[in-house]
Amino acid sequence: MAPKIIADELLDIIRRRRSCRRFKPDPIPDELVEKILEAGRWAMSGANGQPWEFIVIKDQKTKDKIAELSVQARERVFQIERTRIEELRQPAFRQLHDEIPPLKTAPVIIAVVGDRRTTQASVLYGNFVSGEGGPGAVYFKNMANATQLLCLVAASLGLGAQWSSVSSGWEASLKELLNVPEELAIPTLVPIGYPDGKPPPPYRRKLSEIVHHERYDRSRFRSGEDIYNFLLELRKRTSGAYARGV
Ligand SMILES: Cc1cc2nc3c(=O)[nH]c(=O)nc-3n(C[C@H](O)[C@H](O)[C@H](O)COP(=O)(O)O)c2cc1C
Repeated sequence: MAPKIIADELLDIIRRRRSCRRFKPDPIPDELVEKILEAGRWAMSGANGQPWEFIVIKDQKTKDKIAELSVQARERVFQIERTRIEELRQPAFRQLHDEIPPLKTAPVIIAVVGDRRTTQASVLYGNFVSGEGGPGAVYFKNMANATQLLCLVAASLGLGAQWSSVSSGWEASLKELLNVPEELAIPTLVPIGYPDGKPPPPYRRKLSEIVHHERYDRSRFRSGEDIYNFLLELRKRTSGAYARGV
């Protein structure tokens, strides 16, 4: 296949991938789950440290328990969201509600498990003193790369996936539930399944707004007011996408 066609197809999948927060109950064939995991295995990581491991969860009782833990964590997240005006709050947390989280209804959840000890593959200066993004940031970047590839390949297979953050407020309980050793972490859960319905139109800033040539064009540096207006616009355009409270 000509390289251009592969690039166009890849770009098409990148553009079509959307966060899926409502799933049909239909099971996913194991070979598709395996392809998704294989993509995670090939993610980039600082000095190839590969901190990720994956737990594939299908058991409904476990998924119910995970969903329950996430719902318990909602209250704490909501209380912090309440400290800012309603228009700027994360849309999923404008109000407290009892919507069923996708973590309960997705046929498969992949728990993305991370081992920070592997960060020593990278230079110590970056990890302990002043790396890109501060000490320890390399680990989270590595984990994010793997998580993104899981979601991308899910999209290429006609499946929907969601990046579901695990806050420290419930990570310990989640680790206990999934028998994960203390040294490891679960920054993210990825529920996967066949999408039930379509998400609202996507929103991304234009290339002309984000690309600079040779040097940063300061005439386009956004003021505080610009950022405030951007956030308001973002909320208007994306509020419909969220299952509330996830
Ligand atoms: C670091 C990170 C954390 C995220 N956490 C959540 C989350 O907890 N719940 C959720 O529904 N989506 C979460 N998302 C998904 C984003 O909301 C989503 O990617 C963004 O709104 C763009 O929409 P799209 O994925 O449909 O293009 C997260 C994404 C990233 C990269």
